[in-house]
Amino acid sequence: MDNNKRPESMERITNQVLANAFIDEQIREVRAQVGNKKVLLALSGGVDSSVVAALLIKAIGKQLVCVHVNHGLMRKGESEQVIEVFRNQLDANLIYVDATDRFLNLLAGVSDPEQKRKIIGAEFINVFADEARGLDGVAFLAQGTIYPDILESIKQAEGKKAVKSHHNVGGLPEDLKFEGLVEPIKLLFKDEVRVVGEALGLSHEMVYRQPFPGPGLGVRCLGAITRDRLHALREADAILREEFANCGLAGKVWQYFVVVPDIKSVGVKDESRYEGWPAIIRAVNTTDAMTATVEEIPYAVLHKITARITAEVEGINRVLMDLTPKPVGTIEWE
Ligand code: XMP
Repeated sequence: MDNNKRPESMERITNQVLANAFIDEQIREVRAQVGNKKVLLALSGGVDSSVVAALLIKAIGKQLVCVHVNHGLMRKGESEQVIEVFRNQLDANLIYVDATDRFLNLLAGVSDPEQKRKIIGAEFINVFADEARGLDGVAFLAQGTIYPDILESIKQAEGKKAVKSHHNVGGLPEDLKFEGLVEPIKLLFKDEVRVVGEALGLSHEMVYRQPFPGPGLGVRCLGAITRDRLHALREADAILREEFANCGLAGKVWQYFVVVPDIKSVGVKDESRYEGWPAIIRAVNTTDAMTATVEEIPYAVLHKITARITAEVEGINRVLMDLTPKPVGTIEWE
């Protein structure tokens, strides 16, 4: 039997009873697979890796070693949340690696979007591999592969080309050998992963969080990334997320974020000339990320966001709204 193929008889996991049965079955399978050996997991804090982490903590406790790599391109508060939930609340064996300087130094002066994606993807593997080499006796690698990833790989194997080089944890270097992979959610669709996540006790906020690309804010800080513009982007994005939460849009809109291009315009602040970057708001809805429509945000909300970002974020002097559907624009700008 091809164990990468979802059996037709597999029931869709739509409620907590089915989720609990799935969790119990996976706990048995994982324990049988790994025995008393250690398992390594790259924990980004996204839905898939978080659900795998929570499941494996339940199955094998401290035999799971989670590595959270902060590439310096996370949203505000994100790495802190990973530490709080997994280390402090779930008592996981979590290694936190602040690799901000490694990434930002490599990215300095690089403006080509694909080049940026490749650097971030490759360095992510380097940092993760460096950590893995330093650990004793890790036999298995866990991954948050889900069924759409498997379907996507089949499409790519058939020669269909992607618009952008997506990166999650790709191929690890040859010298890192594992006895096997642990992929407990590989036959699940996203909605099922969320139901399982909630059954495992993860918060609704964590399990229903909006998608966030592997290269993070790196593809939203357009062109060559600088630390000051990246900081402005992170702060503006945090305000946007806060205001979306305040007005009830947060659970409704598929993806909403800020983009900061590498251009400046003239403005005025405290009666003096003030050159700053624009913050571009993008808020889209989609079901499969292949096409997307733009969310119609009430003007009052846009005015509030504009007032807050321009008043609170150093370096931003205008706020713009991206009204482009996909196609013709992609969801991310790079
Ligand atoms: P685009 O920009 O191609 O994005 O319309 C479609 C969806 O994919 C997300 N995205 C990524 N997700 N790794 C990911 O896991 C990546 O490298 C990546 N790049 C884009 C994007 O946020 C949107 O949801």
